[in-house]
Amino acid sequence: MSPVRNRVAVLHGVNLDMLGRRDPAHYGTLTLAELEHRVTQFGRELELEVSCFQTNSEAEFVTHLHQLPERSDGVLLNPGAWTHYAWSIHDALELAGLPAVEVHLSNIDEREPWRSVSVVRDLVLACVSGQGVEGYREALVRLSKELDG
Ligand code: DQA
Repeated sequence: MSPVRNRVAVLHGVNLDMLGRRDPAHYGTLTLAELEHRVTQFGRELELEVSCFQTNSEAEFVTHLHQLPERSDGVLLNPGAWTHYAWSIHDALELAGLPAVEVHLSNIDEREPWRSVSVVRDLVLACVSGQGVEGYREALVRLSKELDG
């Protein structure tokens, strides 16, 4: 029997600690702590062990990705604005070599054109965008299917 793979790292990048104060039309009203609580609950329903991390430092985000294979089986990431230009995050995610799903609260394809670019798109199993908090459930379901398979 193959070992259980159920440890999922949920990574939030720059400015996502400001949820609750950011434009509710794009990001809703939950704080990051409330969002992480909901995502952990979604995970529990799917028998996933969720651990959450947020930083405003690109270097810390990259270092966290470097260390991920020792502690996680999969990764769900919302890098915030780094999504659109931080190629260091592309390379660190590639190095991590874990199944990954990209998630965004807002619909990045229906906002400013520069938000349609994602540096991680070629590495992820799926991108869930514009579904608010519920999008995290969908992203976890996608990841869970991959980890089960
Ligand atoms: C975001 C979308 C990004 O364009 C933006 O810079 C963010 C949040 C989202 O969750 O919708 O900070 O990733």
